[in-house]
Amino acid sequence: MYQIDQSFVMNYSFPVCFDRDTLAPESTVLTDIVSRAGVGPHRVLPVIDKNVLEAHPDLVERLQFYADVHNEVIELIEPPLIVRGGEISKSDPVEVDEFYQRTQTQNIDRHSFALVIGGGAVVDAIGYAAATAHRGIRLIRMPTTVLAQNDAGIGVKNAINYRGRKNYLGTFAAPFAVINDFDFLNTLPPRDRVSGIAEAIKVALIRDGEFFTWLHKNRSALADFSQQETEYMITRCAELHLNHIRSSGDPFEQGSARPLDFGHWCAHRLEEISASELRHGEAVAIGIALDSIYSFLKGMIELPTLNRIRETLEGVGFNLTHRALESLDIHKALEDFREHLGGKLCITLLTQAGAAIEVNEIDHKAMETCRQHLLEGVWPH
Ligand SMILES: NC(=O)c1ccc[n+]([C@@H]2O[C@H](COP(=O)([O-])OP(=O)(O)OC[C@H]3O[C@@H](n4cnc5c(N)ncnc54)[C@H](O)[C@@H]3O)[C@@H](O)[C@H]2O)c1
Ligand SMILES: [Zn+2]
Repeated sequence: MYQIDQSFVMNYSFPVCFDRDTLAPESTVLTDIVSRAGVGPHRVLPVIDKNVLEAHPDLVERLQFYADVHNEVIELIEPPLIVRGGEISKSDPVEVDEFYQRTQTQNIDRHSFALVIGGGAVVDAIGYAAATAHRGIRLIRMPTTVLAQNDAGIGVKNAINYRGRKNYLGTFAAPFAVINDFDFLNTLPPRDRVSGIAEAIKVALIRDGEFFTWLHKNRSALADFSQQETEYMITRCAELHLNHIRSSGDPFEQGSARPLDFGHWCAHRLEEISASELRHGEAVAIGIALDSIYSFLKGMIELPTLNRIRETLEGVGFNLTHRALESLDIHKALEDFREHLGGKLCITLLTQAGAAIEVNEIDHKAMETCRQHLLEGVWPH
């Protein structure tokens, strides 16, 4: 027997910037990022979420002007690729295919950039396309929703859906950089403003009790989308996600534990059952509620904690009763999640607001009771 034990270490690093008006000609956020690749000009293919473009009709013009002013750094590839916004961009292969075509017809190579501007779905789909074309094109993400800025757009995962199965195809691929420009959020429909707050409540509950207390206290301001509170919520949520990816020892999720997926085992199923009528964040909010009630029923958290979780979720604007819950097959959803994790079931539950544990078994009967509580809108009291 002859064996070579191959081993090497790759160092990943990328900036995640928080700012406003980043396409103003005087802003250097984007040029500083592109310049990290060395002396320019560098070819940049913009990919824009159609709904973002409709809400910001001068976006292409501003981008072109920005590139003209900074032509020693950026060579904009025209025209930009405009893709449909929302979950359809992940469920239908059209967007990914268009991206592949553009990379071929316009000679986008591994040293060129794709600059994706859009919601979490478009960022996910184009992230997947960019990670697979040429085995990886440099990707700069400019997420435009709360959820994409505080979670979906800042990490190392991307995915598309396959035959109705959420996130079935995907890769782990670090972006070149992320630019969270808060100005994009001004045009978000109210539903999408609220939706992304679920990920902040999630990560606060499992990681940071103080942040949870802050979210609870500021729930009305967040519901009103008050600028200062919203920006703090996004930044702190992003920090906690980035800390986890950096220091968990498992950035590419090779183990079974998936703490950041608190509330997600059923959220993905609820999104599927509702045919994506439920937003990801809305489904996560229901998932958080379900697993928090379960944590209470199992004696892991106190009633006042459960009450505060409900007050926070409902206070920021979530509706925790959805008919998709009626069709949720708890046994099958847990089984699918187990398979997704790679064999061993690992569900995150709460021991207090700010601390979590992993369990490997779920009492299906008790979980059924939790579902009834949610469906009836009557929580344990
Ligand atoms: N990769 C990850 O780690 C990760 C993590 C969490 C969620 N996700 C994925 O993110 C997706 C959800 O993302 P989302 O909540 O951003 O929803 P989304 O991308 O569907 O966006 C919601 C809607 O708002 C529109 N929109 C986006 N920005 C806008 C703006 N500034 N103004 C007006 N309209 C705008 C979009 O076109 C869409 O119609 C899901 O597919 C989910 O699976 C991925
Ligand atoms: Zn999520």
